[in-house]
Amino acid sequence: SLLGLHAQNAEEANYDESKIPPFTLPALLETANGQKVTTSQQWEQTRRPELLSIFAEQVYGKMPEGKVDVSYKKLDDNHSALDGSATRKQIEITFSRNGVERKALLLMYLPNHVKTKVPVFLHFNFQGNQTISADPEIIPSQYSKEARGNQASRWPLQKIIDAGYGLATVHYFDFFPDDKDKHAESILALFGYKPGDDIPADGGQAIAAWAWGNSRVMDYLETDWQVDASKVILMGHSRLGKASLWAGALDTRFAIVVANESGCGGAALSRRQVGETVNRINNVFPHWFCKNFRRYNKKENDLPIDQHELLALIAPRPLYVASAEGDRWSDPKGEFLSASYAGDVYKLYGMKGLETTTLPPVNTSIGDRVAYHIRTGVHDVTDFDWENYIRFADKWLK
Ligand code: GCU
Repeated sequence: SLLGLHAQNAEEANYDESKIPPFTLPALLETANGQKVTTSQQWEQTRRPELLSIFAEQVYGKMPEGKVDVSYKKLDDNHSALDGSATRKQIEITFSRNGVERKALLLMYLPNHVKTKVPVFLHFNFQGNQTISADPEIIPSQYSKEARGNQASRWPLQKIIDAGYGLATVHYFDFFPDDKDKHAESILALFGYKPGDDIPADGGQAIAAWAWGNSRVMDYLETDWQVDASKVILMGHSRLGKASLWAGALDTRFAIVVANESGCGGAALSRRQVGETVNRINNVFPHWFCKNFRRYNKKENDLPIDQHELLALIAPRPLYVASAEGDRWSDPKGEFLSASYAGDVYKLYGMKGLETTTLPPVNTSIGDRVAYHIRTGVHDVTDFDWENYIRFADKWLK
């Protein structure tokens, strides 16, 4: 109810380190039956699958099983985009199953100066494809009436192209319109979901659907002769950072994962309860996680996992976690510590993570196979963020 929502909003967020309730994090390198994990083989054969199924059952929810038919229709393939520096492609992806159809519109820019297959940043957008650039040829996304280019500051296209990367984006509503009553419009309908149907307690909702969407775009990228599908950098901001981390954990085809200000249910440790809490996120966004996650409202210490274990599921692939100083809601320190602790799994592979539990100074990228920065400014995606992600991708992919 409205009143309930009000009460939730009124619940005061804690930002005071001295008021964090004491907690012990679940041991990352210990199996359910108490065995220590000391090798990458043990990690891959036992602990990793264990964690994946806990996150699927208790946090993000599972996608229904069942084959979905997919077709691709190229609506645009223009070699003189961005003043001739890029090729713009627009692909309509149609999903069908049991007579139900859903469509996603993929927009891509690929650098013309690269003559081999290119690495690509896959980054879903919040407001519709047409909002990422003023380019008048972008076909507006189905669920958006937002103005052309209104999100352009978050999408430094020329910088990405000049650095030799492609960009692939889809409006996230195409997979699940971000509203608590939109299950029937989402891709869940492909699996028989009808309005009024109950979602099972371990059933995936919006975040699972967005993560599923990330993987379906990857399926397309694997078919595109201009794309190096072994070099796809999956990037997500905020709620889409949560989804990208989950997609990157499930789908090891993503070469690098970048979580920009992903916060609660993303990179941030739930047990710290700084800024947004499990209780608050489940109440305000009841359609994001699976229903089982609500069991941990105000009971963070009962969680069988914490978010450093989600980050560890990306290993041994490169992982970049980033925060903003003014984005206290996402708990920057909780995102940082989580990334730091995930480093234990990278060590099993002889790789280095952040190698510190001291928050670095602002605007300074640190780390190795796991990297981190906290920049000045608010909850956003900025040129500083992109420059660091590009440098990180250069380091590991080129
Ligand atoms: C809200 C929400 C966050 C989320 C953010 C966003 O602030 O509480 O969990 O990350 O929206 O997606 O921008």
